[in-house]
Amino acid sequence: MNNNLSFNNLVIEEIKSVENLMRDQAKDHHADLQAALEHLISSGGKRIRPNITLLAGRMLNGNINRLITLSAAIELLHTATLVHDDLIDGSLLRRGIPTLNARWSPAATVLTGDFLFAKAAKLASETDSIPVMKLFANTLVIIVNGEISQLFSSRCNHNIDQYYQRIYEKTASLFETSTLAAGLIAEASEAEKEYLRQFGYEIGIAFQIIDDILDFTSNAEKLGKPVGGDLRHGLITLPAIYYFESHQNESNVKNYIDQDCFLTNTNLDILIEQIRNSDAINTAYEKAKSHVSLGIRALLRLPEGDDRNALEEMANYVTNRSI
Ligand code: IPE
Ligand code: IPE
Ligand code: MG
Ligand code: MG
Repeated sequence: MNNNLSFNNLVIEEIKSVENLMRDQAKDHHADLQAALEHLISSGGKRIRPNITLLAGRMLNGNINRLITLSAAIELLHTATLVHDDLIDGSLLRRGIPTLNARWSPAATVLTGDFLFAKAAKLASETDSIPVMKLFANTLVIIVNGEISQLFSSRCNHNIDQYYQRIYEKTASLFETSTLAAGLIAEASEAEKEYLRQFGYEIGIAFQIIDDILDFTSNAEKLGKPVGGDLRHGLITLPAIYYFESHQNESNVKNYIDQDCFLTNTNLDILIEQIRNSDAINTAYEKAKSHVSLGIRALLRLPEGDDRNALEEMANYVTNRSI
């Protein structure tokens, strides 16, 4: 999978250290856990969260070794959520290669996810910051709550406030933690921590809106994961919310909503195609861009320099990305 990111990467070496630290976590454990972790790490991923953490921490002169440990904890937590998410969603492809659940039993997949969660928490504790550990634990609570509410109460829900709540919980919360925890390590002032938090929050919201757009507009080959799945699973995301608002009388839309978001495969394909070719995509895209602008506004209150410039580029990358 192509992981060449289009932003100015000042922390390539540090990212290598983050990946080595992640790999080290399987040392001296069961050979299958080592193989699973190697499979997950070598498959790449954009590493956007650790990039953000490292740059945010450097911008405020944080200790680089503690920032590397923190970044490894965050990326491992992210990886663990993906392992469980793919099992829950029944997704067989991630980062262009088979998921763990495509090759292993649900039991082995759940246990590998658990192992990664535990190791992520251990790494968080190795930052020697109790506030970071608390933030970390609380973020995991928020993510799991988001995934549970998506599972139990989000089917066919097209309420826009609940959509934002859900994407905050499942995605933006970890971006917020990626920047705020960097501020904790760097012993930033209260005002700086608040700007960092806002930056992480806004780009996290934008990140998930774009993920939801790509689910309509991209293809599995490019994205390295299945597309079209959200609507098929009865998960109504921002492009669909906008489309439904402006096409309430279209028969496919009415049938989809009336039938608890079940449609025949043919009609689902048609509905996905209709949404893909509609203005709803652009409206959602503009919304994501407005969140990025809010994030950049907060960022620009923080110390200027190369790291801040790179963070600004990264914020723009969130909406320009195609993977
Ligand atoms: C995927 O995250 C899950 C979401 C929160 C949308 P990424 O798009 O950051 O996944 P990788 O790590 O690059 O594969
Ligand atoms: C992100 O949402 C899930 C997690 C926070 C783990 P998605 O379910 O949309 O992520 P993808 O599309 O599978 O990467
Ligand atoms: Mg998923
Ligand atoms: Mg998605």
